[in-house]
Amino acid sequence: MPRLKGKKIIIGISGSIAAYKAAMLTRLFVKAGAEVRVLMTPAATAFITPLTLSTLSRNAVLTEVSSESGWNNHVELGLWADAMVIAPATANTLAKLAMGLCDTILTAVYLSARCPVFIAPAMDVDMWRHPATQENVRRLQAFGNRLIPVGVGELASGLSGEGRMAEPEEIVQLLETFFDPGSELAKKTVLITAGPTHEPIDPVRFIGNRSSGKMGIALAEEAARRGARVTLILGPTHQNPPATACDVIRVETAQQMHDAALSHFPTCDVAIFAAAVADFRPVAAAANKIKKQAENKGITLELTETPDIAAALGAQKRAGQILVGFALETQDETKNAFSKLQRKRFDFIVLNSLNNPGAGFQHDTNKISILRQDNSVQDFELKPKYSVAVDILDEVETALKRSVK
Ligand code: C5P
Repeated sequence: MPRLKGKKIIIGISGSIAAYKAAMLTRLFVKAGAEVRVLMTPAATAFITPLTLSTLSRNAVLTEVSSESGWNNHVELGLWADAMVIAPATANTLAKLAMGLCDTILTAVYLSARCPVFIAPAMDVDMWRHPATQENVRRLQAFGNRLIPVGVGELASGLSGEGRMAEPEEIVQLLETFFDPGSELAKKTVLITAGPTHEPIDPVRFIGNRSSGKMGIALAEEAARRGARVTLILGPTHQNPPATACDVIRVETAQQMHDAALSHFPTCDVAIFAAAVADFRPVAAAANKIKKQAENKGITLELTETPDIAAALGAQKRAGQILVGFALETQDETKNAFSKLQRKRFDFIVLNSLNNPGAGFQHDTNKISILRQDNSVQDFELKPKYSVAVDILDEVETALKRSVK
């Protein structure tokens, strides 16, 4: 695992039963060659001892901003680190981070840190789902922090649901990918369509779908991190745009998405069609809001097809260009996806399964299979969407390497 060798990593532990996983996390980072400094909130010390963490990290563990032996320089530590990983992050610590409170060494270092910060929450399902916690998570993501999605399963409370801290191996893999230096995608131009489209019925109503754009945004972030120039054509979504430098073009309708994609297609090396484009739109949008009147009982909307962006661009595909499609099927999944792969001239297609809890629209996790031109199929585990983005872009890199030869 050479990517983490010599990397300076701060692990911040707050007071959750999942703090025991931080011992394994520390061990794995040290084993991968990273230099690790551990910070604990006072509450965390009730769950795991600083002695365990200082032994595993081979460094003194800080639990207070100041102690009898002096003041712990949080600013210096914040500047020292290449990455900070807050795991487990309790609801309380999340709230403090979101509000900028700094009453513990962990939160003080967080505020001083200039490095990327990864946050792995751990809490009971109801605390996790509470709008206050969800708002804090959104705030933290908007600040550019990377949220490591919670797992689903048995919780310490005895309840079952969302709220489990991500596994240490998963967190280490994430950081390894983050620090991966070379990439086939460096300096390449990547075009990504993402999110839903809204097809107006009248000035206030539209035909849309449940796509959040999260998968496409994760792809844009990961491609940009690998050094690609990214143009993200994003349909209407409330998600934050990518945290990394991307050219984001906001569109509403399939036609607008088509026009924007078409103008960027000739210069792109890779096009990823992650958008859930509406297949039909009303023939004409009413100029005024359609009223609920007696004569409108049983109203009929006349629909017409929208342009198939992927197919239109696929028809213009030039040698060396890599095209990636998505498929979301409810029946005959593999057969339909293979037929799309051929019809739209994709190099490979990503099949989303709706049959797995946690996969598909709106979720932070996804379960995919990759279907290739040589008829091979690779199934992946249920993972956070940013890890799925890693798998997809690894496949893109393989395809790029192959196309050069
Ligand atoms: O045919 P279907 O909509 O299932 O195809 C899915 C793939 O085609 C996705 O990659 C999607 O982004 C793309 N697509 C498109 N324009 C459409 C419909 C689908 O680019 N109008």
